[in-house]
Amino acid sequence: MPATHHHREGLDRDPFWYKNGVIYEVHVRAFFDANGDGSGDFRGLTEKLDYIKDLGVTAIWLLPFYPSPLKDDGYDIADYCNVHPMFGTLGDFKIFLREAHRRGLRVLTELVLNHTSDQHPWFQRARRARPGSQWRNFYVWSDTSGKYKDARVIFKDVETSNWTWDHEARAYFWHRFFSHQPDLNYDNPEVHKAMFKVVDFWLDLGVDGLRLDAVPYLYEREGSDCENLPETHAFLKKLRAHVDEKYRDRMLLAEANQWPEDAVAYFGQGRGDECHMAFHFPLMPRLFMALRMEDRLPIVDILEQTPPIPETSQWALFLRNHDELTLEMVTDEERDYMYRMYAQVHQARLNLGIRRRLAPLLNNDRKSIELLNALLFSLPGTPVLYYGDEIGLGENIYLGDRDGVRTPMQWSSDKNAGFSRANPQSLYLPIILDPSYHYEAVNVETQLANPHSQLWWMRRILSLRKHWRALGEGKCEFLQPDNNKILSYVLRLGQETILVVANLSRFTQPVELDLSAFKTLVPIELFGRTRFPAVTDGPYFLTLGPHNFFWFSLEPKLQPQLAQPAAGEPAALPAIAVTSHWQDIFAGVPRAKFEAVLPDYLKSRAWFSGQTRTIKLVTLKEVFNVPQPEETTATLAFFQVEYVDANAEVFVLPLAFTTGIVAGPLRENAIAALTLPEDPKFGTVYEALTAPAFAGALLELIRRRERLHNERGELEATRLSAAREILNGLTALEPSVHHTDEGNTTLVFGDQIVLKFFRRPGAGVNPELEIGRFLTEKNFPHSPKLIGALEYQAGAETRMTLAVAKAFVPHAKNGWKFTLEAITRYYDRVFADAAQGRNPSATPAVGPLKPAHHLPMAEAAEHVETYLESARLLGERTAELHLALASGEEGGEFSPEPIAPQANQSPATRTGAVCRARCRPRSGGPSALPSAGGTKLRGATHPHPWRPAPGPVALDGTRFCFFGF
Ligand code: NOJ
Repeated sequence: MPATHHHREGLDRDPFWYKNGVIYEVHVRAFFDANGDGSGDFRGLTEKLDYIKDLGVTAIWLLPFYPSPLKDDGYDIADYCNVHPMFGTLGDFKIFLREAHRRGLRVLTELVLNHTSDQHPWFQRARRARPGSQWRNFYVWSDTSGKYKDARVIFKDVETSNWTWDHEARAYFWHRFFSHQPDLNYDNPEVHKAMFKVVDFWLDLGVDGLRLDAVPYLYEREGSDCENLPETHAFLKKLRAHVDEKYRDRMLLAEANQWPEDAVAYFGQGRGDECHMAFHFPLMPRLFMALRMEDRLPIVDILEQTPPIPETSQWALFLRNHDELTLEMVTDEERDYMYRMYAQVHQARLNLGIRRRLAPLLNNDRKSIELLNALLFSLPGTPVLYYGDEIGLGENIYLGDRDGVRTPMQWSSDKNAGFSRANPQSLYLPIILDPSYHYEAVNVETQLANPHSQLWWMRRILSLRKHWRALGEGKCEFLQPDNNKILSYVLRLGQETILVVANLSRFTQPVELDLSAFKTLVPIELFGRTRFPAVTDGPYFLTLGPHNFFWFSLEPKLQPQLAQPAAGEPAALPAIAVTSHWQDIFAGVPRAKFEAVLPDYLKSRAWFSGQTRTIKLVTLKEVFNVPQPEETTATLAFFQVEYVDANAEVFVLPLAFTTGIVAGPLRENAIAALTLPEDPKFGTVYEALTAPAFAGALLELIRRRERLHNERGELEATRLSAAREILNGLTALEPSVHHTDEGNTTLVFGDQIVLKFFRRPGAGVNPELEIGRFLTEKNFPHSPKLIGALEYQAGAETRMTLAVAKAFVPHAKNGWKFTLEAITRYYDRVFADAAQGRNPSATPAVGPLKPAHHLPMAEAAEHVETYLESARLLGERTAELHLALASGEEGGEFSPEPIAPQANQSPATRTGAVCRARCRPRSGGPSALPSAGGTKLRGATHPHPWRPAPGPVALDGTRFCFFGF
């Protein structure tokens, strides 16, 4: 039975999370130094979690952070179950893990199972123990250095043999890497037990995955190269069974630098009974090779040689990591080519590889960097991004070993690149000062300030990628266009078909693609949602600029959801499969699917103000659970809607779930059908605002002045003290929808309270709340009393009004519409008179062109009916309103300010200018409109210009009131 673990609450329950995520590889030491000792630490990393989250990755892989002499940057472990004091404490690690999980980020740590440091107590004990004893046999000993001759030396620049003599033990010990890193002896079952304890230690703490370092080398057998031995696979099956039995949703990632057919063996058999993931080492150098050769062959060739993998397995793809760009999995000629192209100077070479970072390898060419990342993010596998590569961090090939690619993260142009407050000389490694990659230019702060920076590009492409499961998970088929400088493949998964076309050349290239298998489908470019010409039987022509790429979704001309249903039947709801609970739609793959159905849903809503725009992307931002009666759950979900042709907006959708596929009124607000593994097998997610229980729950929040929290912010319900009485008992009443207009829906409870819900809340305090509260406190008799409000708050900066509750004013009417109706009636009569031969009056009865002191002619007054009296009253009330608004205390939000002469852009002046322009008499003479004057109000923190008229005005018989609904 899987154990339950703390600290994993923030995570969704997707057991295949590793198949569609993005992994960010981080060195704790290199990321952020919180305590100012010159080395990064867990507290620093925790502080930067929002940065990592906002980048759009889903998991963090931590390089070793355990007690260690740090001769192999921590891969030489002296204590498996603790934290190096330089990086913090185990307590700091736990806080980091909890905070990562709270943000939905998984954490992978290193399981260095092949070897330890020679400082590990196991080795110190072994070298002193009796030969042949259990303790001695924790490691591999020999009296000679002649055994296992066929095993290659991996760190060939520093080591000459895999055997090193130990004076204390008076024997040779075996090591595949540095001579201070003795290999553990997997022929000793005690080593298995010890390693399982290490696994349990970290998985019990809540770690989500383990990278199995140097996994092919666990066993040694004479006559073999001591790699990928059957014994190693048997051990891995045992390890996987152990993990599966004790834990849920964990992942093992194999570091097996092998040819594809040997690497796939690490997934195991059947549905995969060894590692869930393995790095695709041979693909990595071929991406670089194909770019320089301007030929797709190396990539297509290696992927076609890669055998299929079990359905629960996934490749880990990468461009660069903390090691040298390894050239072990290429031929000698290919290696020579790579050295010539990417490592002309000898300092750039190390062992069988190139110790360089991504941006300098590509000569800092933004187009090439984007191209390789676009391949990384679309080829089959889960991408692994190396810290710093998102901002184009530079390298220092003059540092020792692989340190040149492990320098501090560059946060700003401040001292030490904002990485540490320490004396620059005490940093664990120096900051990059190379003029092209200098930290004053290449840093997070500078790039965040520029939406065209590489960092923003990375954020955008990662945010796009997560909406398409086919990117990374789809079945991949390569197209074979004649132009071999073009790499093109189709990725298919479920309903998704993605076409990738990439130009590997530094010059513009034409290509003719055979897309006849997708005839009639329309390629939609994913970044801009631009529709391309539909596919036909003939060749599909495209032209790509230097190092350009396209990601297209191939879609039917008519979206299935938009297809006309049979008469009388509603269109089928889009279906989404979830693993356990309806709220799974807020995470992982179901979330991406839910986000994908929202554009069509939004477009079908009368309140959706983006009707005329093209939606690019809808992204879930956050969710609040709203307590409901009878333990059902409902939520307020915040979505960001990005448009192709306008700025993004945030919308709030109240969502709830009901079992079964709904009919009747609920069906009108249904968004998606869910399939669940257990009863109930079907359910519907619908928009809950008009559901009585939900609307009542919102009012109840206000009555009880409740606060709801999530990891980002809080919902605060406020209520004026005097309003308590009126709310008691009301929340149980069925609300009715009074009306819906752009962005807002107004509900009425028992003819006593109106609740106005702002679906597009906008930033800042809504003027209806701000002014409503002020007027209520001032006892202004002609506006409905404010009762309370629901507001969202995140930090000191972000505030939004989601709803306001006010006293209901019966017979209320919108003053603007009321006036329009009066004008319409006036002209109807005038035209009716004209039809009967009576001439209409020569000048308008009232209006902006007629000085106000002129009384209308008697004939006109007759046609205007009682509106003139209403207009008079409206003017009077407006004046009273201004007086009330101007009665604010000195220095308060509503204290009046004189209009400065230069404030010629005040709303009144602007309105005057617009009127003058629109109503200019044909003769071109000056208009009779008086110039604007008066006072302007300070108040209204809302960024929208406050419009005094035509605002919503309620008419109650002969009474007007302001700021109704
Ligand atoms: C693989 C790691 O990636 C590398 O950094 C390390 O030096 C070797 N294993 C040996 O521990």
